[in-house]
Formats: sequence, C-alpha cells, structure tokens
Amino acid sequence: MRVITTISQMQKEVQLLKNENLSVGYVPTMGYLHEGHISLVRKAKEENDIVILSIFVNPLQFGPNEDLDAYPRDFERDSEIAKNEKVDFIFYPSVDEMYPSKPSVTLVVQKRVDVLCGSSRPGHFDGVATVLAKLFHVIQPNRAYFGMKDAQQVAVVDGLINDLHFPLELIPVETVREEDGLAKSSRNVRLTAKEREEASILYKSLTEAEKQIRSGERNIQVIISHMQSLIKQNSSGTVDYIEIYSYPELEKLEVLEGKIIIALAFKFSNARLIDNLVLTV
Ligand code: PAJ
Repeated sequence: MRVITTISQMQKEVQLLKNENLSVGYVPTMGYLHEGHISLVRKAKEENDIVILSIFVNPLQFGPNEDLDAYPRDFERDSEIAKNEKVDFIFYPSVDEMYPSKPSVTLVVQKRVDVLCGSSRPGHFDGVATVLAKLFHVIQPNRAYFGMKDAQQVAVVDGLINDLHFPLELIPVETVREEDGLAKSSRNVRLTAKEREEASILYKSLTEAEKQIRSGERNIQVIISHMQSLIKQNSSGTVDYIEIYSYPELEKLEVLEGKIIIALAFKFSNARLIDNLVLTV
C-alpha cells in the first residue's frame, strides 16, 4: 500500500494505472475508518483491479458552527486498517494541498438539497460536490463507492456525476450497523455511555415506520408523529428532522408509494447523527 499526499503524485500514479488498463475503484472518506467505510473498500476490492481510498476532512462541507476541529482523526490507525484491507493507495492530501488559496470556482448544488441535511446544513452539499469534483478529476475512477447511510449524499453525487459527465459509475452500498441497529459512524465515539444506549431508538423508529407502512398506513404525518414520540420517550437529545420523500429525487410525496426514503437527524449533546431507510411501497 502506498500513501500519496500530493495531487501531482496521485495524478502520475493514476496515469500509470490507466496505461496498464487497470480498473480503479475509489472510496472517498474523511477517515476515522470503521466497518461502514470498510464495507465500501471490500466492495471496491471485489469489483476493481485497484482500490484508492482518500482521507480528507473537507473544510468546505462544514458550516461555521459545525464540528470541523472536533472531527475525529487518526491516520496511523486508518492506514493500518487500509493496509489490512489491501487498499492499494491512500490519497491523503493536506488542506493546503487541496485548497492552496481561496477557491476560484466552487459548485452549487441545485436539486435534492432543499430538504433533510441540505436544509439544516446550508452549503454542506456544495462543499461535498466541490471536493468530490476535484477528487474525481484527480483519481479518475471507473467506479466510486458511497454508503447509503448518507442517502442524500448519494442522491447529490448521482446528480453531480450526471450533470458534469464524469465517466464513472456510482455504486451505493448498504448501511453497516452495530448489533443494536445504530448506524456505524465516526461521530458515534462522541456519544456518552447513556446516549449510546439511547441511540438504538433511531433505527428502531425507522423499522417501526416501515412496519406501519407494510401494514397499510399511508398517512405520512401519522408515521412521522409515531417516530417522533418513540424517539422522544426513549432519548434525551432533540430531533433535528424526521422526513419522508421520494428517492432519489427527494421530492414531497402526494401519495406514499414508489421508492421512498424515511430519514432522520438527531442531536445528542456532542454529536448529530443521521439515519434512513429506503424502501419501495
Ligand atoms: P465519511 O463520513 O467519512 O464517509 C465516507 C463514506 O463512508 C460515505 O460514502 C459514507 O456514506 C460511508 N459510510 C459512513 N458510515 C457508513 C455506514 N455505517 N455504512 C455504510 N457506509 C457508511 O461522506 C463523507 O465522508 C464525505 O462527505 C465525503 C464523501 C468523503 C466528501 O468529503
């Protein structure tokens, strides 16, 4: 495994891989790797000759009051994990390398961002789209792997790839969960012991909603209220949002049918967690 820290070196390596006609699977991350990230790496490994993992905590996608400085980082540990998973290259640029000066061009995402995390984190997906456009240009992957835990991100990246004609395939990967259902996240380490216990209610509320839908409930407000009261009764934090939309368009539903997403964000004392279920009704 090689660790590459500069764009020019990464571009050289990518050119060599292209010359040899090797397919490249790309897994973009912000590091502090866990089984969720590892599942993306494993899928990429299965489907490509070469796997490139990037680790870059992208300042552009954090709002002024968000957790950029507190975002957990541990490169030594991450590179051990990546090595064990037989990742071929880690691309690990510094902030100065990616943004040597104020960017002259940034992207603004026009669709699929006025709801869910897009509305509670203004500018977040613009930052995600901008950094991914840069990373896709450098790495030129055949396939890029994204977790459905961040389903809105998958929807936005789908738009990015289509609109900017990136010649690559987006591969969504199922959410990896703890035994009690909590979606694995780098932010879970910031929960207190009590909050960690309570956090299982988030996924439980999603599966309860699915059960209600499966047994015929079609009133979106009824489903959301039920989730809200379940979560409120069982945890100490605050609900940021619980919403139901079409997926991947993320449009309001007149009728609850087709491919839908039930998504939530929840604030604990020191961490904001998200989760969702995508299902076909
Ligand atoms: P990060 O939060 O590090 O996540 C990297 C990738 O891992 C994302 O595609 C995310 O959806 C996936 N992932 C996280 N937890 C997961 C889980 N429990 N199961 C399956 N996949 C999971 O998402 C980002 O970084 C950034 O926004 C990035 C795309 C790197 C752009 O900066």
